[in-house]
Amino acid sequence: MEKEQLVSEKQVLGLQLPTDPRWVNIAEISIEEILADHAWCEQKAANTCISLIVKFSEKEELVQQVAPIVAEEWGHFRKVLKELTKRGYKLGKARPDEYVKKLLHFENRQLQKDERVVEKLLISALIEARSCERFRLLSLHMKDEYFKNFYHEFMVSEAGHYKLFLSLAKLYMPEDYVNKRWKEYLEAEVEILKSIELRGDRIH
Ligand SMILES: [Fe+2]
Ligand SMILES: [Fe+2]
Repeated sequence: MEKEQLVSEKQVLGLQLPTDPRWVNIAEISIEEILADHAWCEQKAANTCISLIVKFSEKEELVQQVAPIVAEEWGHFRKVLKELTKRGYKLGKARPDEYVKKLLHFENRQLQKDERVVEKLLISALIEARSCERFRLLSLHMKDEYFKNFYHEFMVSEAGHYKLFLSLAKLYMPEDYVNKRWKEYLEAEVEILKSIELRGDRIH
């Protein structure tokens, strides 16, 4: 299965800094917090896809391809919400995502529209890739079999989104440009990760 292969490589989806697998140990003892944070990540993913459609509505291919992802991400939100409810846990308030906030600082906003859409798509691809990497760790190392399967499904789905955002970016700017910018984002992400605390109650 292609998506499975994408994430089973040594360097998951091109990411330069692998997450310490011990993160899973602290994540699984704060499962209520991880589930709530995960739910909010899915909400933000759906929101970002809607914003892409609103901002770049003249880009027909983007609208066609991103519209179903809105539904998928919202489906993910509902799925995680169901897990919270089932366990008597609370969704709680939306929380700030320091990782995403720092990635957005790296975004170049002084560009023409085709380069701007590439910035947005690369940021989305990167968040998908990192989420996918974390879901992979949860699916591999959590003790609970139920959660292993639960997170495996998310891992596969987010890998597909990562791939889609990257290939969409290549529709709007030449491949060389996109690859070069992607490399810069990957490098920036390493510094961002080093600057934030690895928390057991956060997906990122
Ligand atoms: Fe998702
Ligand atoms: Fe996603």
